[in-house]
Amino acid sequence: MANDLLHLTEEQREIQSLARDFARQEIAPFIAEWDENAHFEPTLVKKMGDLGFLGMLIPEEYDGLGVDTATYLVALEEIATVDASAAVMMSVHNSLPTEMILRFGSDEQKNRFLRPMARGELLGAFALSEPEAGSDAASLVTQAKLDGDCWVLNGTKSWVTSGNHAGVILTMARTDTRENRAGARGIGTFIVTPDLPGFSVGKKEDKLGLRSSPTVQLTFDNMRVPVANLLGEPAMGFIYAMQSLENGRLGIAAQSIGIARAALEAATAYAGERNQFGSPIRDFQAIQFKLADMATRIAASRTLLHAAAHAKDRGENVKQASSMAKLFASETAMFATNQAVQIFGGYGYVKDYPVERLFRDAKVTEIYEGTSEIQRIVIAQELYASD
Ligand code: CAA
Repeated sequence: MANDLLHLTEEQREIQSLARDFARQEIAPFIAEWDENAHFEPTLVKKMGDLGFLGMLIPEEYDGLGVDTATYLVALEEIATVDASAAVMMSVHNSLPTEMILRFGSDEQKNRFLRPMARGELLGAFALSEPEAGSDAASLVTQAKLDGDCWVLNGTKSWVTSGNHAGVILTMARTDTRENRAGARGIGTFIVTPDLPGFSVGKKEDKLGLRSSPTVQLTFDNMRVPVANLLGEPAMGFIYAMQSLENGRLGIAAQSIGIARAALEAATAYAGERNQFGSPIRDFQAIQFKLADMATRIAASRTLLHAAAHAKDRGENVKQASSMAKLFASETAMFATNQAVQIFGGYGYVKDYPVERLFRDAKVTEIYEGTSEIQRIVIAQELYASD
């Protein structure tokens, strides 16, 4: 496989095998049923926590594995190759809420929240989007008003991955409503727990793909959040969210590569078995060209992603690189799954083979954690930034 281009270390190969074996044994046999019934399997959280997959980037001093970003992404790709739903749960948890608490949280917050999150005892979620604030995230209207020793939150959050199973939800809300604090300025990030009075889970979305990863609305009705749960500075929450989304986008790129790789592997195997016009269809150049394009785009996506991951670990600015990796990998996932369905023909359009699910799962990678259009805007803005 083109994975070899990465020259994985011994430790990375071990973690890759661990992730692959786990996904094949604990997830693969149930995927079709979970997808059909939109079932989220809560025991996966404990099992993934026990293996360290929910604390990959958290240092050992806070009970995490403390591996580098590239190693984390290798594990995530393996999980995604088997199940993109489990992968998004793992990606959101590792890339967004835990990274935010690690980077911007107090020692007390790290001890209280990060440790159990690293062990998989508390699942993390990220609540930025609202019904009227999607791509324009800074237009969010959820309010946070200081009242004594609490912030009182009112509003609705949308599209929250794992929001109905999370023990910790990093939530962005407007802390300052003065006119000169509109947009990105005057937004705070709060560590919300579902036991807070006024917290409720609303609509669970009935989705095209990623059906065994729940996506829900959350409503806050005069929800009192202790001041100790404010992350960092009260007006910096949007900046924290944007910085964390750079990690998130690397995770979604790895998820996309996993989906694309699963499509390539399924299509390659099928092309060897399926006979038409007297020979296996892989003998035809029309099929070979599709497989070659899929393999090339996957290798290019992975190379770009891992270059971005290494740059991040060197402490470099990866705002543009993470958007490039996410953009290219998610469009590769859509391309590869579309080609795979085409190679399978009618059999690709039904649930007897996995490519139908892969095709449905791929689409959202071009939408969440910033649409492809938003990634292009971020990439272009960084070109001007160096003027
Ligand atoms: N790092 C640090 N600071 C950043 C930053 C970054 N990556 N990106 C922006 N900022 C800062 C800017 O420097 C600016 O600061 P100043 O005011 O001090 O100059 C401030 O943030 C505002 O930036 P912009 O003016 O660029 O903000 P904008 O309102 O024009 O929006 C955007 C920028 C790129 C469009 C942003 O809104 C965006 O990324 N939108 C997409 C939203 C998104 O990705 N949502 C994901 C939802 S979560 C999800 O999907 C998770 C899940 O569950 C799967």
